[in-house]
Order: sequence, then structure tokens, then C-alpha cells
Amino acid sequence: MLKIDRLYVEDSLTPIVSDVTSPSVRFTLTSDKAESGLKNATVSLSNGESFSLGKTNSGRVSFTKLQPFTVYRLTVVVEDSLGEKAEKSIVFETGRLSTPWEGKWITDTAYSFTEKKVSPKPMSFFKSFETKGVVRRACIYATALGLYQFDLNGKPVGDRYLTPGFTSYKSQLLYQSYDITSLLKKENHLEAHLGGGWAVGSYVMNRVNRVTAPRQALLAEIRITYEDGSVETLGTDPSWLLYESPYKEIDIYDGETFDARIDPLKAHKRPSGVESVKINPSIEADYGVAVKNQIKMEPISKTVLQDGTIVYDFGQNFAGVVHAEIKNAKEGQKIEFTHAEILKADGSLNRALLRSAKAHALYIAKEGKQTYEPRMSYMGFRYVGVTGIEEKDIELYAYARFSDIEQTGDFACSNEKLNRLQQNILWSSRSNFVEIPTDCPQRDERMGWTGDIALFAKTAAWNFDTPRFLKKWLRDLRSEQLKTGGVPNTIPNQGYGFPVTMPKMAIDFWGDASVLVPYSLYEHYGDEEILKISYPSMVKYAKAEKFWANIWGLGKYRYIWHTPALFHFGDWVSPDEPKMSGWQARSRYTATASLFHMSDLVSKAATILDKKEDAAFFAKVAKKTRNAYNSVFFDKDYQIKKKPFQTAYVLPLYFNMVEGEQKQKAADHLAELAKANDYTIGTGFPGTPYILFALADNGHLEEAYKMLLCEKSPSWLYEVKMGGTTIWERFDAIKEGGEGNLGQDDGTGGMVSFNHYASGAVGDFFYRRILGIEEIEPGYRSFRFAPAFGGDITSAKGHTLTPYGTIEASWKKEGNLLKADIAVPYGATCEVKVGEPKTLKQGKHHLEIKL
Ligand code: BGC
Repeated sequence: MLKIDRLYVEDSLTPIVSDVTSPSVRFTLTSDKAESGLKNATVSLSNGESFSLGKTNSGRVSFTKLQPFTVYRLTVVVEDSLGEKAEKSIVFETGRLSTPWEGKWITDTAYSFTEKKVSPKPMSFFKSFETKGVVRRACIYATALGLYQFDLNGKPVGDRYLTPGFTSYKSQLLYQSYDITSLLKKENHLEAHLGGGWAVGSYVMNRVNRVTAPRQALLAEIRITYEDGSVETLGTDPSWLLYESPYKEIDIYDGETFDARIDPLKAHKRPSGVESVKINPSIEADYGVAVKNQIKMEPISKTVLQDGTIVYDFGQNFAGVVHAEIKNAKEGQKIEFTHAEILKADGSLNRALLRSAKAHALYIAKEGKQTYEPRMSYMGFRYVGVTGIEEKDIELYAYARFSDIEQTGDFACSNEKLNRLQQNILWSSRSNFVEIPTDCPQRDERMGWTGDIALFAKTAAWNFDTPRFLKKWLRDLRSEQLKTGGVPNTIPNQGYGFPVTMPKMAIDFWGDASVLVPYSLYEHYGDEEILKISYPSMVKYAKAEKFWANIWGLGKYRYIWHTPALFHFGDWVSPDEPKMSGWQARSRYTATASLFHMSDLVSKAATILDKKEDAAFFAKVAKKTRNAYNSVFFDKDYQIKKKPFQTAYVLPLYFNMVEGEQKQKAADHLAELAKANDYTIGTGFPGTPYILFALADNGHLEEAYKMLLCEKSPSWLYEVKMGGTTIWERFDAIKEGGEGNLGQDDGTGGMVSFNHYASGAVGDFFYRRILGIEEIEPGYRSFRFAPAFGGDITSAKGHTLTPYGTIEASWKKEGNLLKADIAVPYGATCEVKVGEPKTLKQGKHHLEIKL
């Protein structure tokens, strides 16, 4: 039977409220008939408009008759080549479209703050209103400069956090909509709480504040539709009264303080004022992925320290918030929750690595029984210390809070430690997909560091449904890219500036996000549109790299990019260099290799998009750069002329900058280096995702597995051996003896996080080499099955979602016999490259192959 399995609108599987009038529609099919193919797909909307997608399972449909604030049904009908039909519908609700806001931006006009490095005083607004008849539907539309949350008649509105989300606020600001019909009474009171958040509060590691606006402001509308069709709109204006906020502190890094004694109904009130907002962003219905409480976390143990602190261990590092059930509280009792990733030897929380982030929640109780959960912040932690309450009076659990990105892939094999590593990759992804792709969730950063996602996007796509989340972020990247092509190191930049880059130049590997992130979406999801949209930004960036490389040298040095090391991150956190200056000193290699790689990829993108001149231009840059890299840094035998290090060999091997005999020599030298290092890792951010491929694909599979399975420090499995439950920023974040590496004397000022996904990019190797699934055509329309057997691994299984459906694969070695099962999605084919080559069509296949 033909079936539409998954139906996405604007890359969302769950119904959205959208201002996009030409939404993208895509779907996956299943059928029990191997010979069937998609013949025709039509998309229709409940307003009568309808479009044909022809034989494709994705495309945009341009609706011309959409009304704002309207719920439609979008239906896809497909027919296959055998004449079978299937249909599926999803709700598609329009937002405001271009309806002007009746509400005005409101704030506390009496409040101004000038203190540096702190967040503003929270504000709370109170609006009472009566309904005037039978309500058909009521919604709130809202956005803010800062963060907002609503309570209606004493109940929280919606299940989203950190709203209105994090974007490049000067260019785009999101609004959310909430259906409040079921919360509504005849007489209602609505409270809106406003913190500084990313826009106004203290943020980025130098903790600048007031970047977007001098104080918080709220823009909202309550829209009530009555049974008779009449509509009443209550927009924000001075009749939304100010009262003493129960929130005493709201800060992204520091957490929050909440005073439960404040009763909005009894509190003294005064009119709010209208704010004159200085920025003029496009205000659009949320096109990102909502941050929600996703996974309930139960503590695995609790210990009461001598000073009375109750220490809970959740057994897992994650980003989220505590949830406390409190009994027998006295009015005014102060209960404090502090958070940490690791403990000290005496069992107390080790919070040194959080740097300036207070990562706490202080709850001031009312009398009796109550619950508390921070609403306006989040923390990265495994351990929580609770003071101000006795153990018997509190029950504590927690929620992992992150963007609602579906997990669409997983991997497991016969090696349990690798399985734990895969789980650690998943957990670091969940912890760092919070509105934007961040570096870490705990210390005073949580920023959209470009380099981290540049290197991790491919692995992320194996495990999670990334398009909607990353496309939102890429829009900000495009907004913030300079005319000259440079990309800020963090997106949204939010006052961070170009820290080490006074000339605002392109920065290798970090700025590469402008190319690698769209490419990851093109490769995994076959999404040519994102390549098209990103193309101008990719070209600008690659040209900027060339410009900065070219101005420093003559002759063959012209393509060696050696601006002072200070302007690059180089082989960032490479464990074989004890100091940050040492990582950066390798930037001539990393920057030049990046120039090659970006030119090469942009040339390929140009070919895909049929831009022949660009394709030739960038191919030429790539060639010149490759020649320069090889001849300036290496001798004829591909021996490095200066002190050898792994990344210098990994990059030319993986990026295909070397060919033939030279390539083999490069791989041999890398294998020797790995051996001399006892198969521990010496690569920083740039080399880590690729080192295993550089070895495995060039005759050194055995060495690749030795490195992957190495348990000595520094290595991936060392982290697992030491009890890591997430991916660490530094492979040696805990020293062999168990003592934390505090990174104090390496020039980073204590930069050690236990929850950084970057080096989890090794996950790409799990799928592509261990499991053996690799795309031949973008989107896995055609893919190969060719596991690279090695180490002690005797079986593997995994799955990943592609635009055609889920690929499932598993294999097991029994002596010389390989037993494999492969599910090929509808519309795709699999080329089996083990044993006799063969092509598999859609459907489930069992193979038995003599090795
Ligand atoms: C972040 C990184 C980031 C780096 C850039 C760090 O502080 O945590 O992950 O990419 O700075 O140098």
C-alpha cells in the first residue's frame, strides 16, 4: 500500500503558524511495491488553491489567497506509477501576514539602567479584560525586546521557553502565537513577565548589555473571535499595568530569582508607558524551533553535605532546569539551587569552570506546598546543590530544555564504549541546540560560535532533523555577514564584535560555517534551495578568504594565508600543544587549507547551480592554493618541513588537496605520527572531524580504528572511560588521575567545558564507515552500503532520516559471513559495495555475503 509517511510544511512536521505565503512542502512515502514510483503529487489548501509538484516529493507552493489569522488544512495527494493513491493532511495556520500591530511597544518608562555587565530588573505587566460573548477562538500574538512569558488566570500560557527566541534582532524578530481559548473565562487577568535575555540583558562572555535596546519592551495582542464572527483586539498599551515583578532576577547566565509571595491580583499597579523602539526589524511569525521541556530527568543519587547542602546527581550532563516539589515551606523561606558539571573531591559542586555565570535559581517561597521551575533561563549541569530546605521537604527532578528538534537517527555497534560515545554526541547536541547552535550550555558563553557548528553540522544531520533549526540561524548569518565577506565569529553576534580581528577579516574554519552549514543541508536533505539562497554569502566569504590570503605574500606564498596568528583560531584546542598560542600558531596551515576547501566547495556549488564562470574561477583558486600548501609546507615526499602535527596532514588528505603517490605518502606520514602518539589524538577543531577518514580511506584503516578505540588521554574513549556523559571541549578535561583540568595556565583563562559538541563530529565516521552508509547523490537518492570493518567491532546498526524516508541498516559478522539488513526508502536506491556489487531498490533487504 502506498502511504505518505511524513509531511513537512516549512520543514516542520508539527503544525505551524506562519507568515510564509509560499511555504515549502515535502513528504516521504512508503509502499510495499518495489517497482512503484511517484507519478504525481498535488498540494491543496482548504481555501481551494491547489498545485502540482509533479514527480517530486518537495517544492514550494505559492498561495495567493491566504487570509491572516486563519487555520487551513493543507492536503497532499499522491499517485504512483501503479495507480495507487495516498493522501495526508496537516494544519497550516497563517499568522498576521502583513496585518499591522494594534498593540504598541510598552515598557516601564520610569526605569533606566546604566550598570555594566548586569541584566535589567525584570518587569511584569497586568492586563484584566472581560469577554463579551461566546468565544470561538482566542489567541495571543507576542514578541519582546528581551524574554517574555505569560500567565493567564494563574496558568502559564503555552509550553515554550526563551521566547521570542534568538535572532539577529536588528534584522529579524520573531513573534509567537498562543491559542488561549481553553484558558479563557468571563473575567480574565493576564500577566506578562519580561527579562533582559539576549537582547537587553548581560550576554556574551564579556557580558555586554543593552545591545539591542536600553530596556525591555513588550508588543502583544489578544485577539478574540466571537461566535458571531466579530473580533476584538486588545493590544499592548498603557492599560497594561505595571506591578512589582515576582521575578527579581532574570539572566541567561546567572539564572533567576523568583519571589512566590507576590500576588498579581493584590499588588499595587501603575500604568505602563509606550516605548519608542529604535530598531526596525522585520517582525515575523516564528520560523525557528520552539525551546521546550523535552526530557524528564530523575536524579540517580543525593547526598547531604556537612553544611546541609543537598547534592543531587542526575547521572547525565545536560542543559535544562530543575523542577522542585516543595512541602512545609515558611513564607519567605529562601531555597537556592546551584548547578555544576563536576564535583570537587569533597563532594561539593565545582563551579570554577562556569567562570562568571552564576547558574543559580533562588526561590523565595510562600507558605505551604508549592512547585518551582525556572522559566526564564537555563543551565548546563549534571549536579545540583540545594540549600535552604531540608531533604524531607523537597522532591527534585529536572527537565532537559532545548529546541524541539526531532531525533531522526541513531547508531549502535558491538562496542559498548562507542555506543556511550554516540549517546554523548546526542546529549551534547540536545544541550547545544537551544534556539541557536551554541558552543556550550553552562559557562558565560552559550554563544552561536560559527566554528563549532561548521564542523558539527554533518554529524548533526545524521542524528537530528536539522533543516528548520539551521536555516533560521543561517538567515542571521547572512544578515550579519559583512559586505566585505567576513562572518562574525558568533551568530547572532549580539555585541561580541570581532574580538581578535581588528580588520574584520574572514576567519578560517569559523567563517566556513557560511559554506559548510548550507552544504550539510544540501548533502543530507538534498536541499538545493538552501544552496541557492546561501550562494551569494558563500561566494562573498570565499572571496574574502582569498583577499586576506593574497595580501600577505608574493609568488608561491601568495596563496599561503598567513595573517598574524592572532587573527585566527588555528588548530584550536589541539591537545598536543599545551598553549593557546601554539594552536593559533598553526593557522598558516589551517587557514590555507580552509581557503582551498571553501574555494573547492563554492566551485562545486557553482557547478550545481549552473554558474560556470564562478565554478572555473574558484576551481582555479583552489588549484593555486593546493599547490602552494603542498610546496611551501611539504617536501616532495610529503614530509612536513617544520614540526609535524596531525592536522597538517589530515586537512590535505580529507579535502583532496593531494593526489596519487603523494597522497599515499601523506597518509603514511599521518599513520606514523598517530603511532608515535600511541594513537592518542593531536588534532584541534579543524582536524578532529576528519582524521579517521584521512587514515581509513588511504590504506590505514587499522590505525583509524586504533585511534577511535584508544582509551588513553587524549582520545574520544578516554572521555567515556572517565565517565563522560557528554562530549568535552578538551579531550583531557579530566586528567588521568581524576583531577579536573582547569585550563588555567594555557592562555585560555580556564576554558574547559564538559558539554561541547565540536569533537563529537567523529559521529560522521560511525555512520559513513562503521555502519557503511554514504550518499552518492545528495539526499541519499542513491547511497552506498560499504562498511569499513575494523577494531573489535563485529556488528553495527543504525538509521537516519533522508528526504525519501528512513534508511535503516544493520550488519553482523559471523566468521567469514556478513549478514546485513538494509531498508531502502521509497524513491531511493542502494549500491552494495561489499561482496558482489549490486543495486537494491526501495524496500527491505536481507543480504548474506561471504567476505
Ligand atoms: C568557544 C568555542 C569557540 C572558541 C573560538 C570558545 O570560547 O567555547 O567552542 O569556537 O571559543 O575560539
